[in-house]
Amino acid sequence: MEIIRVENLGKTYKIQKNNQGFIKSFTSLIKKEWEQKVALDNINFTINKGDIVGYIGPNGAGKSTTIKILAGILHPSVGQVLVNGIVPYKERIKNARRIALVTGQRTNLFWDLPIIDTFNLMKRVYKIPQDKFKKNLDMLTDIIGVGEFINTPARQLSLGQRMRADIVAVMLHDPDIVYLDEPTIGLDVVAKDSVRNFFKAINEQKNTTIILTSHDLEDIERLCNRVIVIDNGKLVYSGDIKHLMSQYGNEICTLCITVEDDTEDFEIDGCDIERNLNKLKLKFNRNSATPPVILNRLLERGIKVVDFTLNEPCLEDTIKVIYGSKEVGEPIHK
Ligand SMILES: Nc1ncnc2c1ncn2[C@@H]1O[C@H](COP(=O)(O)OP(=O)(O)OP(=O)(O)O)[C@@H](O)[C@H]1O
Ligand SMILES: [Mg+2]
Repeated sequence: MEIIRVENLGKTYKIQKNNQGFIKSFTSLIKKEWEQKVALDNINFTINKGDIVGYIGPNGAGKSTTIKILAGILHPSVGQVLVNGIVPYKERIKNARRIALVTGQRTNLFWDLPIIDTFNLMKRVYKIPQDKFKKNLDMLTDIIGVGEFINTPARQLSLGQRMRADIVAVMLHDPDIVYLDEPTIGLDVVAKDSVRNFFKAINEQKNTTIILTSHDLEDIERLCNRVIVIDNGKLVYSGDIKHLMSQYGNEICTLCITVEDDTEDFEIDGCDIERNLNKLKLKFNRNSATPPVILNRLLERGIKVVDFTLNEPCLEDTIKVIYGSKEVGEPIHK
């Protein structure tokens, strides 16, 4: 079931022109000059209920601008957005009741108050009935673990602890849609993991729709079943991750093998082999060969395999190719 529809979305910011040189800067104090910055240009996509979608693109691509429009914070310059049947920037309060917005750089917690006080405030703001509040607080505390610092003021928490508390605060009212704008920025590996596991669990238990922007592509690979890629305000790809990788020919796996003895030169169909004494690196396209077949070929030659590891292609490599090779804003052909 469709929950978000974005049609011909465009956003242009009006920014003051920066003039260089003393006279020009002085004149601009008296007579302001403006220029237009196109942040989003004809973006179209839909998102279904229960999807976890990665919204990715390089710095300045327009990700946060889109999230802010979907959350009802910004008006678009052109186009239409429907979230849960509501135009978010026209019915901001109605929209806010059904969404949660988590941004890695800003906190929703009251700095000097114990975090439980922020949770209680959320209960009043969202008019959450006591039994639902208690049930949700217990469940959220249990999954993400804020129990041990629930009475500590936000300013005394570490970044990871604050992030977890922030997440609990915005999830208490059972939002249908969660927008995560770089939720794991600055977190250590353990904290990142707990944030990812948390949203995975919430999605499974409550069928919550999640839209995630992150420069940490592991977040995207671990959580998302679909990605939307934007670049310089233009949509360049919308679809699943595997398809995106295959579009960029990034299907090369590497099998690193340690063999018992130094081997003679040999070849295996479809494999590019690098040898260094008893270490072998076999590169192959995963559509034309599989590790068991390759290992069998080695055994047939009497080569004794002591150890092996398989490195599969990752999203990061694909994204490097996309950001590096493509003309800005050029679509990825499906
Ligand atoms: N309030 C604003 N006023 C003027 N220009 C803005 C404003 N906010 C964003 N922009 C510009 O719009 C473009 C898109 O910005 P946006 O913050 O949406 O990018 P982003 O994809 O979230 O980038 P990042 O990965 O760095 O967070 C950028 O060129 C940015 O400079
Ligand atoms: Mg951003």
